[in-house]
Parts: sequence; C-alpha cells; structure tokens
Amino acid sequence: MTRVYIATAIPYINARPHLGHAMDYLIADVYARWRRSLGDEVRVSAGADEHGTKVAEKAAEAGQTPQEFVDGLRGDFQNLIEKLNTPYEDYVRTSSPEHVRRVQEIWRRLQPYIYKSTYVGWYCSGCEAFLTESEAREADYKCADHAKPLEKVSEENYYLRVSEFGDRIREAIDSGEMKILPKWRAKEILALIGERAADVSISRPAEKLSWGVPVPDDPTQTMYVWVDALSNYITVLGYPDGDISEWWPATLQVVGKDILRFHAIIWPAMLLGLGLPLPRTILSHGFITIDGAKMSKSIGNVVDPIEALERHGTEAFRYYFLRHVSTFDDGDFTWAKFDSAYNELANDLGNLVQRLAVMCEKYGAGGVKVDEARDEEFAGLMGEFRFSEAFEYAWGKVQAINKRIDETKPWEVAKNDPEKVIELLGELTGEIMGAARLLAPFLPETAEKVIELFQAEKIVPPEVPLFPKS
Ligand code: MSP
Repeated sequence: MTRVYIATAIPYINARPHLGHAMDYLIADVYARWRRSLGDEVRVSAGADEHGTKVAEKAAEAGQTPQEFVDGLRGDFQNLIEKLNTPYEDYVRTSSPEHVRRVQEIWRRLQPYIYKSTYVGWYCSGCEAFLTESEAREADYKCADHAKPLEKVSEENYYLRVSEFGDRIREAIDSGEMKILPKWRAKEILALIGERAADVSISRPAEKLSWGVPVPDDPTQTMYVWVDALSNYITVLGYPDGDISEWWPATLQVVGKDILRFHAIIWPAMLLGLGLPLPRTILSHGFITIDGAKMSKSIGNVVDPIEALERHGTEAFRYYFLRHVSTFDDGDFTWAKFDSAYNELANDLGNLVQRLAVMCEKYGAGGVKVDEARDEEFAGLMGEFRFSEAFEYAWGKVQAINKRIDETKPWEVAKNDPEKVIELLGELTGEIMGAARLLAPFLPETAEKVIELFQAEKIVPPEVPLFPKS
C-alpha cells in the first residue's frame, strides 16, 4: 500500500470565499478519490492562512481584532469545503498555538541559512509579496492583481539564503524529482530562478506587522506570512514534534498559478534547509474569470460559490469546474454557461440513466456485474494529473452509450427478439456502470447512484431523474 499525502493551498481569511477558492479543493479531491480507488492510503490537508498584513488591514476595517475577524470568517471556508464534498483528513489554522510553536521551531532549525540585512524595495500587501526595484518598475509601481500602488519599504529584515539552494531546486525541477505542472509553468519558474536565485526577505518589523508569528528571540520582528503559511504543509503532519516520513514528501500539492513561485522556490529552499525531501508534484491551476473578467470586489463581479452550489447541487458544480474548466488553464464562469452545463448533464447523463432504467424494467434486464477491469487510457491521464482530459474521456463513454442506444433501438429489437434485447441491455448496463466507475472521482454521488441502480437484479428507474429540469 502506498501512502499519498495531498496538500491544498490555505486561503487568506480576509473575506468570504469566492468561486476561485473551490479549485484547489476540487482538484485535490479528484486525485484523492482516484488514489483511494487504487487501494492507496490517502491523507488530504486543508487550512486557513490567518496572519499577515492583508488580514490585519481587513480586521481593522471591520473594527475587530485580527483573531476575532478570522474566527468569524473561517467557518465559511470550512462550509465551502463541506458543500463541495471534498473532505480532508487534516486542517490547520495558522493562528493556532500549536502551529505557531512549530513554525518557531522551524525558524530555529533554519538558523544556518538566515541572516539579517536591510531590505530596500517594494511590497504588495495584496500578494504579501516583496518586489525588487526592477520588478516594481516593470509593473509601473502598481500591483495588477490587486489594482493598488505598491508600498515602498526600507526596513531591517531577516533573509533566507535561497541562493544556496538555487542549483538544487533547478536540478530537482529538471530531473522531475519535483515535478511542476503544467510543464510551461515549470519553464517560468526556471526563468525566475535564473542563474542565481535571490535570497528572500522572511520577516517584517513588528511595528509594521504585529499579526503574525514572532521571530524567536527577536521580538522586534514578525515572520513573513509566507514562511508561516508554507510551513503548514508539514506542521499539520506534526513536524517537528514527530516523524513525518510516513507521509512526507507530499505526492501532490495543489496551488493556483499566482502562488506557484512561492511554492516552487521559497518552499523548496525551506525544505532543503530543514533537510527534508521536496514535494513530488506541484500542480498549478489557472484562474476562474467571470464573463472574461478578473473576479474583483471593485468590479463587483465576485460570485459566491455557495450560491452556485445551491443552484444546481454539488455534482453539477463539480461537473462544471472539473470538465469545462481545464485543470491547468484559466476557465470562465457565467451563470448562463453554468445553466447550460447543467442541461447538458441532465440530457447526456440524467436522461440516459432514466431511459435505460425504464427499458431494463420494461424488458426485465438486470443483474449485470460491474466490470472491474482497468481502463489504461483513463488511468494514464489520471496518473499524469490531466484531470479535465480524463473527465472528457469518461464523458465520451457516456455519449457513446447514448449513441449506441439511438442506433441499436432496443425497443425495436424487443419487438422481434425478446432474448436479444436482454443481451443488448445487459451490455448497455455494463457500459454505463463502466462509465460511472470512471466518473467516480469527479461525480462521486452520481457514480454511486448509477452503479447501485444498474447492478440490481431488478432495475427500477429512479422516481426523480438524477438531474431534474427546474
Ligand atoms: N494564503 C495564500 C496561500 C498560502 S498557501 C501556503 C493565498 N490565499 S488566497 O486566498 O489568495 O488564494 C487561495 C487559493 O485560491 C490559491 O491557490 C489561489 O491561487 C486560488 N485562487 C484565488 N483566486 C482564484 C481564481 N480567481 N481562480 C482560481 N483560483 C484562485 O494565496
């Protein structure tokens, strides 16, 4: 049995969740379900990134302490995970005393690679990112993602000697020891590392940022929120209190494209500094746009994922974001596209289940066993984390069954040959259960219902179709 640890990025708890937050959980869940179906032991982690300037600013705006503020919001994120049907084994809150203590110990262990210096440059509190003069100039001193001016900073900071690990990280990416997906993003990271990786500032003066983990033995400094947050992937496993080698390195880390560089440069440098192995795969997904535009409060186009989940149910939500949004690229959402995807689901699969079950009941077909044989093509796609393509492949099976019914017309066959129609329906029920097995990581509840329905000796059509038209 193989142990598989899948870690999801932990969102900032600075506002209610939006549609984009669902992607990390959905992608991680598909892989978790797939590996479980292979008999592996799987552990998924999730959490809440509660520290940092951005959270502190929002708390102040709300007239609350940062702790009160995150305590009030965090439930919304857990609720989202529950509604997505993407369960996790471990959950970490970065403001928890246990995490804080563990991060401080991590800092102590990184001592040989930490030094103090003066940082002169720029900071975006939206990204919680330091930018060099030339990066800031290129961006015209504004953050495009957060539509606000960069802050000029000149301060005493601690630095992490990322430069010591640049070659190792480059090699790990090149050799596939730490796979970065998609490949073209790996190229971007390699270009960013360049000839010599730059050291990274890993603290901020406590007078500017107090909402964070205090640097051990130096109360004037607060840890940079990314050092605190990235550590979650191992503190949640118990590091450094216990041995994590049963689960670490992670088989898969899921992150959005905007935060890949933190995961593919700073995080590996931290791990190498701690003498820990690197994650095996870091998968970066794209962004969800709304009708072609970036989701943003100022545009006022932020979509509440709970509203979408409630509109057509969890399975339809999963269908849209896992099939119609490519695993590695940006994807667009509009209510109209979402509604039409629901109709597609109802027509292609809901109707198929209904009409096949009606025919089975009418002609007395049933009792076919689920074929457990492995579909190599599908397994290949899943193994390469090409989830939306794997979903497409499984959907092709569903469409092929519809086509076969249209072409073979079982109702005509029944008129002439009652035995042959049972045989034909037996094949079709075998095929639909086979398709359901492939769909299980994407549409777990639907797959279970379809298999349960068609493996019965006596097939009875569902009283309410799987995806009723509203
Ligand atoms: N707190 C950091 C992550 C720390 S991980 C050690 C963070 N938080 S976030 O709330 O801004 O983003 C959480 C996740 O949602 C990230 O993977 C991010 O890329 C993803 N997304 C944020 N907006 C998104 C879209 N519009 N579309 C898809 N994913 C998006 O970054």
